[in-house]
Amino acid sequence: MTRRPPVARSLAALRRSLDTLRSRRATVALVPTMGALHAGHISLVRLARRRASRVIVSIFVNPKQFAPHEDFGSYPRTMDADLAKLAAEKVDLVWAPTAEAMYPDGFSTAIAPGGPALAGLEDRFRPHFFGGVATVVGKLLLQCRPDVAVFGEKDYQQLKVVTRMARDLDLGVKVIGAPVRRERDGLAMSSRNVYLSADERRSAPVLYRTLKDCAARLRGGEAVAATLEDGRRAVVEAGFALDYLEARHAESLAPLASLGDGPARLLVAAKIGHTRLIDNLKV
Ligand code: PAF
Repeated sequence: MTRRPPVARSLAALRRSLDTLRSRRATVALVPTMGALHAGHISLVRLARRRASRVIVSIFVNPKQFAPHEDFGSYPRTMDADLAKLAAEKVDLVWAPTAEAMYPDGFSTAIAPGGPALAGLEDRFRPHFFGGVATVVGKLLLQCRPDVAVFGEKDYQQLKVVTRMARDLDLGVKVIGAPVRRERDGLAMSSRNVYLSADERRSAPVLYRTLKDCAARLRGGEAVAATLEDGRRAVVEAGFALDYLEARHAESLAPLASLGDGPARLLVAAKIGHTRLIDNLKV
C-alpha cells in the first residue's frame, strides 16, 4: 500500500511541515479542495505536480461559503478515501485544518471580493458564496504561501474571483485553471453528483449538451439572444429549474451581445430535484 501523506490539522503542525518542505528549496503548489475527491480533483493534483516540486492539498469544508439552507451538514465527507487517493498521487502534505484552527473563537474578518464576484451569475443565487470562498482561499494562500495554486475551471466564476483577489492583494501566487473533467456522457464531475437519483443522473448531461449546441450555433454566426433563448428552453424542458444560461466575456464576465465583443464563455446553473449543478464551456 502507498504511504499516506502527512496530514496537518493545526497551524503549528502546518508550519513545521512547511519548514521541512521549503528547506529543500522546493517550489510549492497548493490545490484547495473541500474533499470528496473525484477524478476532477486528481487532475488538479496532477497539474499541480507538473508546475511545482511539492504538492499540498487542502481539505476543508468551509462553513462560510454555505448559506444556512444549503448542504453544509450533508456535504460528502470521505477523508479516508481522500487520503488513499492522495497517497496514490504521492502528495507531499495534506492541510486539513479543524474548524477551530481556521476560524478560532472571535474570528471577525472577511474578504469582500468585487469585480467578477459581482457578475450577476452565481452571486445572484448564492450571495454569501464568494465572500466565504475569498476569505477561506485568502487564508489558505497566506497559510501555505504556495508559488502556484490550482483551481478547476468547473467553478469558472470562482476561478476568476480568486485570480483577481490574488492580484489585488499581492498574494504572490500564480493562479492556474484546470480544464473541466467530464463523465463519459458529458456531465461535469462534481462532488455533488452523488446526490443525483438515477433518473436525475440520466437527465443531468443535458446541461453539457446544451452548452455544446449553443457554442456551435454561436460559432456558426447565430445571434446570442436567440441561441440562449433556445438553450434555456431545452434545459427547462429536460426537467431542470434554470438559474441562468449566459454568454459572458471569458475574462471580465461582462455580458456579451455578440461574439465580436471578446472571447466568450457560456455558463449555466440549474437545479434538478434538490441538486444544483453548474457547468461552463469556451465558445
Ligand atoms: O471549489 C472548492 O472546492 C471550494 O470553493 C474551495 C476553493 C476549496 C474553497 O473552499
